[in-house]
Amino acid sequence: MTGPLVLETLGLTKSFPGVNALTNVDFRLFAGEVHTLMGQNGAGKSTLINVLTGVHSHDAGEIRIDGESVRFAAPLEAEAAGIRTLYQEVNLCPNLSVAENIFAGRQPRRRGAIDWKAIHAGAREALAQLNISLDVTQSLDTYPIAVQQMVAIARAVSVDARVLILDEPTSSLDDSEVSKLFEVLTKLKQSGIAILFVTHFLEQTYAISDRITVMRNGQREGEYLAKDLPVDELVRKMVGDVPVTAQRTRSSSERNDAAAANRALPRFDMRGVGRRGAVQPIDLTLESGRIMGLAGLLGSGRTETARLLFGADRADTGSITVDGKPVKLGSPRHAVKHGIGYCPEDRKKEGIVAALSIRENIVLALQARRGWWRPLGRAKEKRIAEHYVKALGIRARDIEQPIELLSGGNQQKALLARWLATDPKMLILDEPTRGIDVAAKFEIMDRVMQLCAKGLGILLISSEIAEVLRLSDRIAVLRDRRKVAELSGDELDEQAVYQLIAGGEA
Ligand SMILES: Nc1ncnc2c1ncn2[C@@H]1O[C@H](COP(=O)(O)OP(=O)(O)OP(=O)(O)O)[C@@H](O)[C@H]1O
Ligand SMILES: [Mg+2]
Repeated sequence: MTGPLVLETLGLTKSFPGVNALTNVDFRLFAGEVHTLMGQNGAGKSTLINVLTGVHSHDAGEIRIDGESVRFAAPLEAEAAGIRTLYQEVNLCPNLSVAENIFAGRQPRRRGAIDWKAIHAGAREALAQLNISLDVTQSLDTYPIAVQQMVAIARAVSVDARVLILDEPTSSLDDSEVSKLFEVLTKLKQSGIAILFVTHFLEQTYAISDRITVMRNGQREGEYLAKDLPVDELVRKMVGDVPVTAQRTRSSSERNDAAAANRALPRFDMRGVGRRGAVQPIDLTLESGRIMGLAGLLGSGRTETARLLFGADRADTGSITVDGKPVKLGSPRHAVKHGIGYCPEDRKKEGIVAALSIRENIVLALQARRGWWRPLGRAKEKRIAEHYVKALGIRARDIEQPIELLSGGNQQKALLARWLATDPKMLILDEPTRGIDVAAKFEIMDRVMQLCAKGLGILLISSEIAEVLRLSDRIAVLRDRRKVAELSGDELDEQAVYQLIAGGEA
């Protein structure tokens, strides 16, 4: 049930050099509601949050809490006012225990010493409020990302939270983890907390939202009750009058073209490739012009398989051949030399180099393959970067900006550009459209299909089963770190895939 107005902005305006990130934005947040912010990459969602939480100051306009004008000079001030935030990139300390993470910076003390008993009990209690029970003495990184996120929420709401803000919290969660998160959010909402949520997933928006605010080009397009806004209208409002590439299935002629295209391109065979603690020995054949989908839950071994192929981790067993010839792919450098590209899922950890420019980030893999002693030259780098900025619709002021200043989705596109620029023969895409808005997502997958039709082979990893099904020629299903099935043709059926993933028989 909608409660009183808690937080409000009036005419909020914020610009960065060369970018009007927010123009005159009015926004309202009510107690006991989930309010979702939607908009394309770079629309200003994260900026709005950053201003509300004292990360950035605003240039004009007003923020009101309970009707009183406020201005936060730092995130701690917003926190003191009861505004708690999970930012787009999770910021916990992986090597501290769960309990330490929940109490970091505010440990209860007894006679001067840290009171561990109180910390552990308090952490257990904070999690119990969300119906979660964990060994709170374990270090955080022993738990999957989904659990880490719950810990972050527990930390956020454990004292006097009035507003909980979550910027794309679900992009690395699988379906069951998302429902768990939504249970927690529903519980919090019923207790009267106001929740501000950002996501690119349309289904999730409708599953959880009471209210939706649509942002476009730094402006508020409108505020709607979710029940009054049909999904196609929502998409139109986000994108404006720009036509959206339709979400499409690869046609059979495209598939055949692709198969016929350039037989000379190599074929990669993994035979019994495995690594203790990561994946059981696995067989996979990747052909040019074909998309092999990898389906499975988070933690089923999808990323681990990709890393073995790319040589990011060393296999203990098995062999890899290219066109029947054994190759040693002991390191990413070898893999790149053989034409393999790898767009990793964790763009913060293994992807972008925050301090380098967009241009430098895009040419990075290409330069690495040529060798650093043969520089590409500034003009050529500029041409390549500009080409991809245009082709993928990367929203940037100019290519010399540090990449960290791009919005999350635009960073993801730049990462894809980095690998496309190497003109790979085999491209591993691990969650390629995470954090990318609907319009851009269809564009990107469309482009990937075009490349595939020209002979590029693809290993596609995605938590969205529907996406994997739409695009793949074959799907390998992983469960508990082993391949349990490989489907093709008529077997490519949503129900069958779900059943295999979950552990039933096909
Ligand atoms: N610190 C910064 N310095 C310069 N420009 C910035 C900065 N932060 C954001 N921007 C720019 O402001 C605009 C809005 O970015 P913002 O991160 O708010 O988008 P978003 O809606 O969250 O997008 P996404 O869905 O990709 O996360 C973008 O053009 C972005 O490049
Ligand atoms: Mg963002």
